[in-house]
Amino acid sequence: MPNLRAIYFHHANRYEDLIACEDYKNILIRAIGEICPLEGRDVVEFGAGTGRITRQVASLARSIHAFDYSHPMLEVAHEKMNALGLSNWAISMGENRQMPAVSQCADLAIEGWSFGHLPSWYPNGWQRQASLALGEMERILRPGGTMILIETLGTGYEEPKRYESLSAFYRWLEEEKGFSSNWIRTDYRFESVEQAVDLIGFFFGDELAEKVAIKQSRVVPECTGLWWRTI
Ligand SMILES: C[S@@+](CC[C@H](N)C(=O)[O-])C[C@H]1O[C@@H](n2cnc3c(N)ncnc32)[C@H](O)[C@@H]1O
Repeated sequence: MPNLRAIYFHHANRYEDLIACEDYKNILIRAIGEICPLEGRDVVEFGAGTGRITRQVASLARSIHAFDYSHPMLEVAHEKMNALGLSNWAISMGENRQMPAVSQCADLAIEGWSFGHLPSWYPNGWQRQASLALGEMERILRPGGTMILIETLGTGYEEPKRYESLSAFYRWLEEEKGFSSNWIRTDYRFESVEQAVDLIGFFFGDELAEKVAIKQSRVVPECTGLWWRTI
């Protein structure tokens, strides 16, 4: 499996090339809006990366402040946000478990594919680390605010699959932390099969790249879960 931390600090542009092909049917932003209509909302984003969610939310919300702890990822996000010509956004360095954001500044706290690293990066203490991150979301939300967590339910799968490394985390969110959940398809569509094999291998590893090569399709199915709770 590729070293994802190294990707976030050394290959931000290639990460952006990959996710630019993801969710080609634009399903995610509609799913977010169904949970929490964005118009007039102030949003804080955790683990924003190259700003895929930031860009979509900024076009609809009153404001968004996006944080990540990788400067290279945020540089790409900054460049892409500048190109949008909007003025309702800010991007800053920030650690998910200690956000440099004031308390009660947001109506929506959102993260995508970031908290889900905690179970594999902290196998013996992920509950404590995840509680810190959720605690930061809760702290920055105004009363009545909503948290949304977006995490994988399987790349290369047409039906949701809970990877073994993540199933305890998802169960913990649902059973102990009171999150509701649903799932959507966020399929990738690449320019060619060659690009699909290359970029899927770069991020997800050789095994999935091999499956894509055998299938000879430039569309790669993916399932994504959304977990949310209003405080
Ligand atoms: C898979 S990327 C997702 C990025 C973005 N949310 C997206 O939808 O493309 C995970 C991101 O989480 C960031 N990240 C991981 N752990 C973090 C932490 N503890 N604090 C802040 N950012 C973190 C990484 O730097 C990376 O940009």
